[in-house]
Amino acid sequence: MIVCSCNVLSDGQVREALGGRSDRPSVGAIFRHMGCEPRCGRCARNISAIVDQHAAVPSDHCSGAGECDNCRADELAA
Ligand code: FES
Repeated sequence: MIVCSCNVLSDGQVREALGGRSDRPSVGAIFRHMGCEPRCGRCARNISAIVDQHAAVPSDHCSGAGECDNCRADELAA
């Protein structure tokens, strides 16, 4: 699912950018890591939610592919 229409970024790309990080990077850091920058800012809340979910779930328990309750929270919030 596209989470940033200005930069055409998907939730999967954001999760991939988070990789095995155990910290909670800022939304700006995610954009910088992906070689782009926020434009309209409408996506910041959704990207922040993905970062929060990633930080809350131990990486060895979830691949970020929608298998756990935290991943499905994206669908419920949409
Ligand atoms: S939707 Fe992400 S910057 Fe506009």
